[in-house]
This record gives sequence, C-alpha cells and structure tokens, in this order.
Amino acid sequence: MDKAQILIASNRGPVSFSVSDDGALESRRGGGGLVSGMISVATEIDGLWVCAALSDADRRAAEEAPEARLDRVHDLDGMRVHMLDIPRRTFDGAYTGVANSTLWFVQHMLYDIPNKPVFGSHFRRLWEDYTAYNNAFAEALVSGAADGARVAVQDYHLALVPRILRARRPDLRIAHFSHTPWAPPEYFRMLPGHVARELLEGMLGADRLGFLSPRWADAFLRCCAEILRAEVDLVRRTVEYGGRVISVGVHALGADEAGLNESAAEPAVAARRETLEEVVGDTRLIVRVDRTELSKNIVRGLEAYRELLTAHPEWRGRVTHLAFAYPSRGDVPEYREYTDAVLRVAKEINEEFATAEWTPLVLEVNDDYPRSLASFQLADVLLVNPVRDGMNLVAKEGPVLSKRDSVLVLSREAGAADELGEHALLVNPYDTVETAEALHRALSMDPVERRARREGLREAAVALPPRKWFQDQLRSLG
Ligand code: G6P
Repeated sequence: MDKAQILIASNRGPVSFSVSDDGALESRRGGGGLVSGMISVATEIDGLWVCAALSDADRRAAEEAPEARLDRVHDLDGMRVHMLDIPRRTFDGAYTGVANSTLWFVQHMLYDIPNKPVFGSHFRRLWEDYTAYNNAFAEALVSGAADGARVAVQDYHLALVPRILRARRPDLRIAHFSHTPWAPPEYFRMLPGHVARELLEGMLGADRLGFLSPRWADAFLRCCAEILRAEVDLVRRTVEYGGRVISVGVHALGADEAGLNESAAEPAVAARRETLEEVVGDTRLIVRVDRTELSKNIVRGLEAYRELLTAHPEWRGRVTHLAFAYPSRGDVPEYREYTDAVLRVAKEINEEFATAEWTPLVLEVNDDYPRSLASFQLADVLLVNPVRDGMNLVAKEGPVLSKRDSVLVLSREAGAADELGEHALLVNPYDTVETAEALHRALSMDPVERRARREGLREAAVALPPRKWFQDQLRSLG
C-alpha cells in the first residue's frame, strides 16, 4: 500500500456501516461536527484517514477491506480510509470511559460537582485503555505515513498521539486540532495530576495546535503554564516546552456553502420540506437541531419555549417549535437520563398548551439529515443555546440555507458567538426568561432587520470554509 503524504486521524471516520436485512454491509456518512467539517476536504486529498471501527458492522467492514478507498465505500474520491479494529474492551474504555465520560465532561464543564467525578482505581484502568487506543492510532499512522508526511490529528480522543508519533517518527510534521472547548485550569486540574500532564504533554508533541475560538486556545495556554510550568506567550500564542516551541492557532471552522446547497437540492430535502410545511401550516416556526447532548442544553431550550407561550400568550396557536434531537452516545448513562428528561419536558409542554387544532411542539428523535436541511430552509427562528460548545456548526449552516431570513437566537457560550454574535440575538443559556424574550423578539422582528441580520450571519458563517480551514492548518505546518 502506498505511503501517504497527508494523513488525518480521528475517532469517528467519514463513513459508518450497518448490516441490511439481507446481511450485506451498507455504508453511510459519519455524523457530528468534526466529520461534517472535514468530509468536503477529504474528497480532494490523496491521503489516508485513520479512524476507529465504532460498531460490529464497522468491524466487519474493517476486516473485509482493511484499507478501502473512500470512493468505493461512499461515492467520494480521494482518501483511503483505514478503520482500526481496536479490541472491544479497550475501545469502550477509551471512547466511552475516558473520551466521552471524562474528557468531554471536563472540557464542557458538565459535571454535577457534589457527586462527580470520582477518579478511583476504575478510572486508572480506563486510562490504560485510552493509552492503548492512542498507541494503536499512532502505530497505524507510523506505518501509513511517507517520509516527512503531514499528519492532522483530531480531537480529545487522540490527545496522546502527537507525542507518541514524534518519538517514533521525528520526520513527520504533526498538527492536533481540538473541536471542543478547553476548560480553564481551575476546572481542568480536577483530573488526576498524571492524567492532566500526559494530556498536555501528549498534545505538545505536535508542531502546531489548533482551536476553534481564542477562548479555548487561551484556556489551553493557561493550563500549560499552570500545570506543566511551561513558558507560555499569551500574546503570540506559543508554548515552550521540552526544548521546543509549539505554536497555537485559532481556526474558526465555517460552513461549507457549496456542499450544503448541493445537499439541499436533493429531492429528499424537497420531500421533507413538503411534509414539514403541512405540519407547520400557517404558524411561525422555531427550529432546533442537535445531537441529544448534555452540552446542547435542550431541556432549558424547551423550558424557554414554555416560558414564551406563558409570558406571551398571543403566540399560542401561531407558532410551532420543531425540535430535532438525534440519538447520541447511548452508552453513557447521563445521556440516557438526559434523553428521558427531554422527552418528559416535551410531553408536558404539549399537555399544557396543545389544542384540537394546534400542536405547539414537535420533537423528533430519529436521525434524518435531509429533514434537518429542510427545517433550516423553513425556520423563522433558529435556536442554538448550548451551555458550552467548541463552535456549533448548526448556527452557521442554518443561515446559509434559510429561505425565510431566519433569526438566530444563539448562546454566548458557543464558539460560533465569536463570529456570529453581532448578527444573532445572544443569550445566557442558563436564563430561560432571557431566552424566551429573545425568541419573542425574533418572532416579532420586522423584515428589514431580519434580512440585514441574516445577510450578516451568512457572510460570517462562510468566512472560513472547511477546505480553507484545513489548508490553513496544513500550511501552518510548512
Ligand atoms: C463532537 C466531537 C467529535 C465527535 C462528534 C460526535 O463534534 O468534537 O469528535 O465525532 O461530537 O460525537 P460521537 O461521540 O458520536 O463521535
């Protein structure tokens, strides 16, 4: 197999597999912000994407075609995909135990502090899994990379990879990009000391580190200064550690306008639009589209809608809220409880306000990408209210596709607020009354202001398209 000049490594890859009724493997596009952002780039690069097999069907696919060309599995040219079949228990410990139940919670500051986290001996075993999983990725990259190749390692799953890679292959040029927020040192240091150090030192094995917002880059730098006692320059954003200088960059990933327009022109989207138009009738439409994810703050979003209908009864019968909350990380107990809470609050709202002619809230929990795109087109208001979010691509994709000059009600705690804040209605995500008032203002806004805001949003949303975002990172490696 040819060695690659450009390599991407991420836990979730650009394709995932399922087994159809007749036992054959079917492939589909992987989900989530990271994959959406990178897939348009991958079609144009002759390289290698190393990712993990996430399910039994993925494992079977990995066995049948260890290094499939992406065009064979998903109608895309360019990259080969190498799905790693990591032993199940190791994978679960690394992905569910450490990455999703610990690192994600730390970076999004999601812990219910009086009770969690507890870092006991169980966590020490999970940490061994995480280390083994990072080693497996590094191994695949070591053997797949050409001399002097550039490697773009993605996200918190793979924080240890840059350091292992540098030790094994000093010829490589290594970037690591974080798609999450980064916690301030006062929060980050709750991790066991050796874990906090290994994570930071692991990432500092790279030549270049990337973040989505200056807020996250600066928090990372402060962690390096406090925990590693590294020499940090907060103005030039550099870290001096272990005799090397590592530069830290901010690359605010934007929406892929051409790709979105192409997907939105598919007949499936027009069909979903018709169905949604029937559901919504002549009422105004508030849309939200998220994974059912603790950080997305769906419950408070629904509470804000309840508050809107209570404080502004004139909207009863005149507005519909479509909330798409796609399943996510069902192996983490907190996510299952959260999904139950979302369903419960949604039911309460309909019980309280629905009439024979009007359903105030339509909550859908099954994944349907064309339907999400159709809802962006039809929305009068798009609600994006995470308690903390690396970027949030929904906030950028919605304005690109809107056919009705939709107004964006956006949490100030999303990375996207850096670029979109001026044109959106910014809210404190914890304040359901403020959020309800922003929804009211958005619904009542005159067409001239809506148009102006929407134009501003669109322009800011596409300022750094994925292709350029990725090229910038590669270029920064020299
Ligand atoms: C975020 C992370 C990605 C991840 C995605 C979906 O966007 O930054 O790395 O792939 O969530 O999460 P999942 O656990 O389903 O891959």
